[in-house]
Amino acid sequence: MEERKPLLEVRDIVKRFGGLVAVNRVSMEVYPGEVVALLGDNGAGKSTLIKVISGVYRPDEGRIFFEGKEVKIQNPMDAIRLGIETIYQDLALAENLNVYSNIFLGREKLKKWLGLVSVLDHDYMLEESRKILDRLGIEIASLKSKIKNLSGGQRQSVAISRSIYWNAKLLIMDEPTAALGVAEQRKVLDLIRTLREQGVAIIIISHQLYDVFQVADRMVVLRRGEKVGERLREETTPEEITSLIIGAELVEEDRRA
Ligand SMILES: Nc1ncnc2c1ncn2[C@@H]1O[C@H](COP(=O)(O)OP(=O)(O)O)[C@@H](O)[C@H]1O
Ligand SMILES: [Mg+2]
Repeated sequence: MEERKPLLEVRDIVKRFGGLVAVNRVSMEVYPGEVVALLGDNGAGKSTLIKVISGVYRPDEGRIFFEGKEVKIQNPMDAIRLGIETIYQDLALAENLNVYSNIFLGREKLKKWLGLVSVLDHDYMLEESRKILDRLGIEIASLKSKIKNLSGGQRQSVAISRSIYWNAKLLIMDEPTAALGVAEQRKVLDLIRTLREQGVAIIIISHQLYDVFQVADRMVVLRRGEKVGERLREETTPEEITSLIIGAELVEEDRRA
């Protein structure tokens, strides 16, 4: 059998804030087309670890490999150039612009008008946006609607479409379903499955174990900055993951109390 190679590998990552070790010698891999859930209680180090991967923070120690080569990710642009896109909770969309303008935000397509001046090529951006939404099975009636008039789930889908349009190989999502209603949560989970089928690798942070068990292939659990467990979905249970998150010692103490 051909050995699969990780798309991303982080090795012995350490990130300190003053005297606090937020991430302590964490190593993990993500394979192409794999959904990895990053789990842990508040303050476990999840957001800090993904910010190291997405170039927001530079690690104090450790190495990062992408597509088999060691990379130095010094800033968010370095990550984006590699194909690592991160969807934060605020989504970084422009509320007053429409859907297709957001997909092309900062990367607008221009055309020459009368062979003289450069103007925005609205038709091209509209058509391209429609194609990417269709490819991902996302339903938004008009791509001329402003972001502020869309539902939470639709906004999420626009942010994800933008990443995929610009060739994300690894999509990182911090709590993608946290602010959504049940129907919308289901759509985001469907979208995650569609992305996986299309070969996109995903790291998802979520507190909702029910969601995680529906989409994740593998789970990595952090506690107080350290990796305390890693499980394939089919070989674990929500109970086991919960005890890893809160710490088996605590469960023992509770029993004794
Ligand atoms: N910018 C920062 N400055 C100082 N401490 C931070 C900073 N960001 C996070 N921390 C601390 O690092 C630890 C890990 O935080 P974080 O990565 O946000 O955890 P999680 O996302 O798992 O809730 C926490 O103790 C947090 O208070
Ligand atoms: Mg966090």
